[in-house]
Amino acid sequence: MSDTAKLTLGDIQQELPVIEGTECERGIDIRQLRARTGLIAYDPGYGNTGSCESAITYIDGEKGILRYRGIPIEQFAENPNFIEVAWLLIFGDLPSEEEYHSFAAELKVHANLDEGMKHQFEGFPRSAPPMAILSAMINALSCFHPELHELEDAESVRSTTARLLSKIRTIAAYAYRHSRGLPYMYPDPKLRYVPNFLHMMFSRPYDEFLCDETVRDAVNLVLILHADHEQNCSTSTVRMVGSSHANLFASCAAGVCALWGPLHGGANVEVLRMLERIHQGKITPEEYVRLAKDKESSARLMGFGHRVYKNFDPRAKILGQMAERLLSYTGKNDPLLDIARRLEEIALEDPYFVERKLYPNVDFYSGLILRAIGIPTNMFTVMFSMGRLPGWIAHWWEQRQNGDNKIMRPRQIYTGRNQNDYVPLAKRP
Ligand code: CMC
Repeated sequence: MSDTAKLTLGDIQQELPVIEGTECERGIDIRQLRARTGLIAYDPGYGNTGSCESAITYIDGEKGILRYRGIPIEQFAENPNFIEVAWLLIFGDLPSEEEYHSFAAELKVHANLDEGMKHQFEGFPRSAPPMAILSAMINALSCFHPELHELEDAESVRSTTARLLSKIRTIAAYAYRHSRGLPYMYPDPKLRYVPNFLHMMFSRPYDEFLCDETVRDAVNLVLILHADHEQNCSTSTVRMVGSSHANLFASCAAGVCALWGPLHGGANVEVLRMLERIHQGKITPEEYVRLAKDKESSARLMGFGHRVYKNFDPRAKILGQMAERLLSYTGKNDPLLDIARRLEEIALEDPYFVERKLYPNVDFYSGLILRAIGIPTNMFTVMFSMGRLPGWIAHWWEQRQNGDNKIMRPRQIYTGRNQNDYVPLAKRP
């Protein structure tokens, strides 16, 4: 097997080294390409571009494999614990008992927001999209913690991580309370991570929301399955922003903005809209699939397809089963689940989807679980952000630790006008 690639273009002949990862995936190292040849690599959408080496998450899109630090995600489904997974992703190993308990205690200490931040929620209109509030408030956190802008060691990263992981859930819950005109509920230090979040979402003064184990496990699982997905759009955004040495709060706030889009995390909202449209009888599943295939229409089968997976997204499999389990546990029959199953059935037998290898992705079933718990649709992508936060932090920190960290600055192929002259306003036609 050759460990160099040969590039020939006219007189140019170059040997380019090939690098190999621990799972044997290989890439051509073109770092010297422009300096040696004047050429750049052209790859809009970066489908063929490796932006970094990373030891956090492994995906095999052909086989439908996803592992966090080498552990298959299916293994987290048995006893789901989001905090454990967050630690694993960020610090590299599962926490020891002592690490786990002291980190959980730290999360409790940092759950409250500065009282000054509460006033900032008041400035947003009731109808403000919670993703806009989330991004703004994560950025605002940096104003309250200027001492955490420069993070050089694992200790300061740990304490900033504890603040971010803990406060994102308070911000998320307050964004929801604000949109409903409900009083903000302070975090309860007696509660664990997920029950505390659900308490801040759903408790009312003198009427505490009680979270049972099944609901707690379902939310933990949803968060875990969203926790990292290597160089996706929002994580690449966090790395891009972080590469300028922007602080962790600012970098994660940018990640929230990237996640908001309907082709990325916002797809979970679009899936629900699509299912509701069908449920309301505005279109049948068959007609919707036909529309999604029609190149004249902008409709897509939301929650289907993935840049990396050309097979079942393993997260969708687990979430589909969890949706069924949760609904049967709560005794609720959600007609949207039947519609989702029907759409899946039609698409998986349709040559359009088969040939393009389009399968259900993480967003296809996650919304049905959140809906069963009572989370409103406009909070779905906020939940995705809460889940993805450990991944963003892990990548930001990995990049910081890497001595080879350069500011990210892609090149382009210029296709504009050639040189021409400035014409004063009075002389323009
Ligand atoms: N419905 C109908 N056609 C589709 C779909 C879909 N959901 N997804 C891809 N295609 C078609 C697309 O039209 C194209 O066809 P053709 O080759 O004839 O031009 C082909 O499949 C390849 O699609 P692409 O857009 O070039 O693929 P991509 O890797 O750039 O995009 C994607 C991946 C996820 C953005 C896309 O599949 C999509 O828009 N899916 C729907 C939105 C969605 O569910 N997004 C969530 C992604 S997973 C979680 C996350 O990242 O947040």
